[in-house]
Amino acid sequence: MTARYRAVLTGAAGGIGTAIARRLVAQSDLLIIVGRDRERLVGLARELAGTPVQTICGDLCDPRTVLAVTAAARDSGVNLLVNNAGVSAFHAFETQDPMAIRQLIDTNLVAPMLLTRALLPQLGLAPAAQVINIGSVFGSLGFPGFAAYGAAKAGLAGFSQSLRRELADTTIAVRHFSPRATRTAINSAAVDALNRELGTTEDTPEAVAEAFMRFLAGTAAQHTVGTKERFFVLLNKLLPGLPENALRKQLVQIRKHLPH
Ligand SMILES: NC(=O)c1ccc[n+]([C@@H]2O[C@H](COP(=O)([O-])OP(=O)(O)OC[C@H]3O[C@@H](n4cnc5c(N)ncnc54)[C@H](OP(=O)(O)O)[C@@H]3O)[C@@H](O)[C@H]2O)c1
Repeated sequence: MTARYRAVLTGAAGGIGTAIARRLVAQSDLLIIVGRDRERLVGLARELAGTPVQTICGDLCDPRTVLAVTAAARDSGVNLLVNNAGVSAFHAFETQDPMAIRQLIDTNLVAPMLLTRALLPQLGLAPAAQVINIGSVFGSLGFPGFAAYGAAKAGLAGFSQSLRRELADTTIAVRHFSPRATRTAINSAAVDALNRELGTTEDTPEAVAEAFMRFLAGTAAQHTVGTKERFFVLLNKLLPGLPENALRKQLVQIRKHLPH
């Protein structure tokens, strides 16, 4: 029997979030969608009509938004939290704005940690529940120009692993899903140009959402999208000198696009 979800999905109005929401709705009895853009959230909720959808509009770095999500989830039987909201920055680290670095770590790491913490009591009431954190290949494979983003996503991977082990004797599974480059608004024109020059494989958000739904139905602790990317992540763990040399050779091309 296919599982039924009562889900909280952050970043729902974004590229990957919307594609996930459109698929998740068929298996859901409740969707609580979270984002900052009210118009896009309401538009998405209208499109998903047929399943009860609640919209929470707010910045996830603001504790009031976390409280609003917790209040919406209370007594709702929530059994799935997808921490998908995120921001990216492709920038020379030395000249990256310190406030932008803080904001990036706050959005991509601290906010999902605190939302997870706030929802654990509700998730713990369900017979089986999941927290799925959306990471990135760059969280396992450091890439020039993404030092702050990579740090946040590596932190999210560490958080997912530690919490999964902490909750191993409970009904809450904590899992980690890492897309590779995907065509969404998160990527600046400079990233798009770099990807074109390096011939980087880019997925559509729809393909990522398909892979996410397969992951959701399974039990793997973590998944990285893309066979080549999974290979490089493994190589980076076992023989980090090899990707290090390969990236060193691409540095001239990367620097050409790197804002500083
Ligand atoms: N696209 C890629 O190449 C790629 C690759 C690997 C991993 N990822 C990860 O996939 C996830 C989804 O990204 P995407 O590509 O779909 O990007 P996107 O289209 O820009 O969507 C990101 C969403 O996150 C929301 N968000 C950002 N900061 C927020 C905050 N402080 N509070 C509330 N919501 C916030 C945005 O809300 P607003 O609509 O209000 O801006 C937006 O809806 C991210 O975690 C990203 O790091 C993406």
